Amino acid sequence: MNPRDYDLDSFWMPFTANRQFKQTPRMLVAARDMHFTAEDGRAILDGTSGLWCSNAGHCRPKITAAIQKQAAELDYAPGFQMGHPGPFKVAQRLKGTLPGDLDYTFFTNSGSESVDTALKIALAYHRARGEGTRRWLIGRERGYHGAGFGGISVGGIPANRKTFGSLLPTVDHLGHTHNLEHNSFSRGQPAWGAQLADELENRIVVLHDASNIAAVIVEPMAGSAGVLVPPKGYLERLRAICDKHGILLIFDEVITGFGRLGAPFATNLFGVVPDIICLAKGLTNATVPMGAVVVRKGIYESMMSAAPENTIELFHGYTYSGHPLAAAAALASLELFEEEKLYDRSRELAPYFENAVHSLRELPHVIDVRNIGMVAGIELEAAPGRPMTRAFEAFLRCFEKGVLIRTTGDIIALSPPLIISKQQIDELVGTLGDALRELGRKT
Ligand SMILES: Cc1ncc(COP(=O)(O)O)c(C=O)c1O
Repeated sequence: MNPRDYDLDSFWMPFTANRQFKQTPRMLVAARDMHFTAEDGRAILDGTSGLWCSNAGHCRPKITAAIQKQAAELDYAPGFQMGHPGPFKVAQRLKGTLPGDLDYTFFTNSGSESVDTALKIALAYHRARGEGTRRWLIGRERGYHGAGFGGISVGGIPANRKTFGSLLPTVDHLGHTHNLEHNSFSRGQPAWGAQLADELENRIVVLHDASNIAAVIVEPMAGSAGVLVPPKGYLERLRAICDKHGILLIFDEVITGFGRLGAPFATNLFGVVPDIICLAKGLTNATVPMGAVVVRKGIYESMMSAAPENTIELFHGYTYSGHPLAAAAALASLELFEEEKLYDRSRELAPYFENAVHSLRELPHVIDVRNIGMVAGIELEAAPGRPMTRAFEAFLRCFEKGVLIRTTGDIIALSPPLIISKQQIDELVGTLGDALRELGRKT
């Protein structure tokens, strides 16, 4: 191991126990395909696609080359009142991939920005159509929609909200769909819970009146709060209620997009088409930050026709919206996914992955295993008096053993790159199993 030529003090790390990390750092210095290289030279099997984002694995030469070429050719071009080819090409490609008339893409730089952009578009759209009273935004408990003020307002993770004041004023939340009593150890979509969507009509619409509600935003499968797979029929019901009351349905597919669930997008898998879709992460295979918000044709057209000729239709955008490097990375990534038939691969591998993760069900402290596509959640019973410690300890042990997993509370999430081999699935799940057995002996 080379000695570090920097210290760890000055960087305030995001969503990290900074003091714990700086005492026992876990540094990654390189990556290729399914593995990171740790600072001490160990290969670390990536069981999480980084943060659910390196869907095709790491440092793929095609994407690297595209970014390098673009950086040397057109490093930056202003995106306001000026254009360059990259984002137009990516938008065209997304239109060809997404179902229905999800035809128009607005670019951002992250999932958080995609969510805030989608919420702003929803409000602006209703106003443009003369329904400016529609201001309420409906999220869901245990939803994660990034770290911006819009995202944490509609999000439903208490720790992400409680420190930051009053947030957006006109927001309400549906209840979450997680229910171990009915659905533990489900494979794929749980059978119980479609009726939970009725809360939108029976409580939220009754309380606020549909004429005041702009949009409902949900992750089709909630990832960050612990892999909560939608019950069969749930999303269909949400769609129907939104349609009945003129409410826009926003799917936050920042995690579920680009093959994660064994289909190109969750909207394909579940056969439910939202009005607005939020993307990021896998869009560039995580190489250059980029997010996207894709809207249905009617939304774009309403916005265009509501504004006077030759004026800006939406006063929103970012310096780096559609950045040339990000666009080049996205195009190369989307091409690579297609060339390698990655979405098919994800679907084909999913049953093997499912069987592997469900083999953990008898291990100490495991109270649920759930999965869909190439995602799994393993929920542990909280240690008495020490909630949220067991899974983190499993994470530390797995890292020592050369495997990266992710935890949220007492839940372990697995979401490996879609290029993973069956042997590597065995290694990932086997190592986690060893860590859980060790924990079981300890407590
Ligand atoms: C569903 C969802 N939405 C939004 C975000 C935020 O994305 P970012 O961290 O790129 O801002 C995330 C990140 O994990 C996510 O899972």
